[in-house]
Formats: sequence, C-alpha cells, structure tokens
Amino acid sequence: MSEKREILIVMPGSSLHGEVGTHGRLSLPGDKSISHRAALFAVLAEGQSEIDNFLVSGVTSAMLNALTRIGVEWEIEGELLRIDGVGIRNTGHEASNLSESLLINCGNSATTMRLLAGALAAMGIPAVLDGTAGLKRRPMGRIVKPLRQMGVEIEATNGCAPLNLKQSTMPLQPIDHISRVASAQVKSCILLAALAVDGRTTLREPGPSRDHTERMLCSMGIEVVSKTEILQDGRKEKQSEYYITQVNTKPPVSLSPLKMKIPGDFSAAAFLIVAGLICPGSKVTIRGVGLNPTRTGLLDALERMGANLRIDNILELNDEPIGDIHVQSSNLRGIEVNGSLVVRMIDEFPIFAVAASYAKGRTKVSGARELRYKESDRISSLYRELKIIGATISEKPDGFIIDGSEKLAGGKVEPHGDHRLAMALTVAGLNAQNPVSVVDPKIISESFPKFYTIMEGLGVNLRFENKG
Ligand code: S3P
Repeated sequence: MSEKREILIVMPGSSLHGEVGTHGRLSLPGDKSISHRAALFAVLAEGQSEIDNFLVSGVTSAMLNALTRIGVEWEIEGELLRIDGVGIRNTGHEASNLSESLLINCGNSATTMRLLAGALAAMGIPAVLDGTAGLKRRPMGRIVKPLRQMGVEIEATNGCAPLNLKQSTMPLQPIDHISRVASAQVKSCILLAALAVDGRTTLREPGPSRDHTERMLCSMGIEVVSKTEILQDGRKEKQSEYYITQVNTKPPVSLSPLKMKIPGDFSAAAFLIVAGLICPGSKVTIRGVGLNPTRTGLLDALERMGANLRIDNILELNDEPIGDIHVQSSNLRGIEVNGSLVVRMIDEFPIFAVAASYAKGRTKVSGARELRYKESDRISSLYRELKIIGATISEKPDGFIIDGSEKLAGGKVEPHGDHRLAMALTVAGLNAQNPVSVVDPKIISESFPKFYTIMEGLGVNLRFENKG
C-alpha cells in the first residue's frame, strides 16, 4: 500500500501580527548562502572558527556531511558551529594517500556541490560529487569549464552531476573567464579554486551576483577586487556592462579563522514580508535581516509596487549590512522586472509571483531564464501551480506575465521538490477564497525549518494532514 502524502491546508482570512526576532521561538534563521560559505571557508582556514546563528537545515546539513567525508572535525551546539580548519594543502600530499576517490553526497544542494568542487580543487582532494535526482538535473558545465581551464581534471556526466574530480597538479593556472550567466556559485567556485593559483584570476559576469564570498575572503585576509566594465558583446553587436571579480594569489595561501555571527536570511524574510503585504490588516516586524544590496532586489521591486515597507536599525554585522524591516498590508500594483534587478532578486521569484498575483494590473518578468535551473524549473512550476489556484499567468521562455486579482480561488498544489515554491504557495493561500492545500510541505526544511512555526506565531491558521 502506498504511503499517504503529507498535506498542509492553509486556511485563508488571517491577518498577521507580531515580531520575528533574532532569538527565541520566532527567530529568523541565519542566511543560507553565508552559512554554506562560513562552514566551507572555515575548513580552508588555519585554526578554529566559531560561527554563530548558523542555519541548521537540509541543505546546510549536506555541506556539513560533505565536510565530515573529507575528514573535517566540527561540532554544533544549538546554532553555534565550531570547525577545525585544516588549511589549503597546496601540494595535495594528504590526498595522494587516498587509494580511490571519495564519494560525496551533496543531497539537494547545488551550493554545496559547486562551492565544494572549487574548494576540493584548491585542496587537491579527488572526489566524486553526487546528489539527488533534483540536483542531477542542474547545470554543472558552468563550473567544469573554468575549472578545466585552471588545470583541474574534472568530468561531468552530460554537463551535470555526478562530477568526477581527479587529483590536480599544483599550482593551478590563472584564468580570465567570461561567464554567460551571473552566478555567485560559479564565481565562488572559481575564487575558491583560485586559492591554489599562482597569479591573477579574473571572472567577468553579466550581472551583480551576490558578493558574500568576496566579503568573507577579504575578512579572512585575501584581497578581492570588484569592479564593473563596459564590454563589446560580440554576438549581439552591442555594449554590455560586466561585473569583474579579481584575486591575485601566490601559494601557499593562508586564511585566518572566522569569528562571526550570520545575519538573518533575507530570502527567508521575503516570505514573511509578502505575507504581511497581501493579508489585509497585517503589521509585522522582522529584525536582524541581512540587507546586502546584491540580495535585496525584492525590496526595490515591492517598493515600486506601492508596498508599505520601512527599514531601520541598519548596522554592520561582520562586513554585512543588517536591519529591521517593518511591513504593513498594502495595495500593490503590477510592474515590469528585468535586467540586473533579476539577478538581485534571483531567489525571490516564487514569492514575488505571489505578490504579483494579488497586485492590481499586469506584472511582466523577462531576462530571467536562469529560473529554469533552480530547485525546480521555476517558470514552469509557478505557471502550473499558480494557475491551479486561479492566477492569470502566462509562461515565457525567460519569465512570466501575471494579471493580478483581488482573490485567488484556492486548490491543491505541488511544490515540485522546491522549498521556495512550497513556501510561496503557502503564502498564496493566506488571502484566497478557499483553502490552498500544499502537498509534501516538509520540503521547506531544506532552507527554513521554522517557517510554519513562525507563520502560526504571526496568527496564520494552518492544518496538517497525514503528518509523518
Ligand atoms: C547562491 C547563489 C544563487 C542562488 C542560490 C544560492 C549562493 O545561485 O540561487 O540559492 O549561495 O551562491 P546561482 O549562483 O546559481 O545564481
């Protein structure tokens, strides 16, 4: 007999009230991107790192398990992670003692796979990096190509995982690489491998991808240069702005350990922000949220839509800006989103599509083909699921168009194995005419395990069926 799938039923009609803080039951989780980096970069440092407010979740467990596989010692106490760094072994001595490649399961985490590939290349550790079926459909050619140019022996399987990383001859070669996509994972992979390069490594990308790696490497003693440049785009015969990241290294490179507190995750806060905006009578404050400008494109988009948002208490926490966000329910209107704004809100399109579904008028997203390569094909999964609950949405090769309405009808939806889709669809149900049922809601624990607890704490009425 097949097992019954768990279902979350979102009861519409609540308004949200209260505060999500920096500690306690209703605390915002630590940033996912920075948590991944902190754990991995700490390994490359010399000495013990202490990382507070670490995100404990599905995808970061994949990173920690991978670190265990390569012999790293770490311990976690609540949200405080301690890691013993092993340094960058530029000669690959330890690796040559391994009789065969290590098999490392990266779970559902592309950040783990792409960043780990760069770090293992720098450390000279051979490994086979594999993961779930969902991870296996995500493009890896974008890291394999530059790593090969650097002299790393690495094979993908039809451009995807498993990745077979062989032991490389050190030092690696400097490269000047132009990436077709703006991707912080590609950039971070190259910057990590560059720690074993003798010379200047340059990456040019077509948009402002998140810069946590640059900020963290600088704090660990590596000078990273970031600038922009106008380049002739050969194929399109036009000029385009490129974002350049450069690092000049001479092995052996030494990194100082991290003593840091991770900011609250803006991408987690995004679901609470939109929930507060679309539910009439709501008033919500979210404290200690990471406000790195390469991440906060959604705030710019929502402000253009007429959102009632206020930010205060802005300060720096370990080289990252943080602040408190105050949200009140608002009448939103449709807008157009394209260009570099797409890059600055790349993870927020599922929840942005929900905001657009409740906005007056038309919202048009273009230049966002990258959404097809996330945890699900987010253009097609948003189209399918939002349509089921009554949104007027059309799918485009590089985006979507939504004609907003005051109420969505409700219905039963699938998150397609995508944590952000599950959370966005939950929020979509808050102001619908009838309940929205989300199948397999547990997928949210990949990035935001306390999402439902926080929603209930703010006054939302959720029911679970067949809870496992
Ligand atoms: C991430 C970068 C983004 C983002 C992902 C996390 C990171 O991916 O979508 O959730 O931590 O570097 P891309 O670099 O592929 O755009």
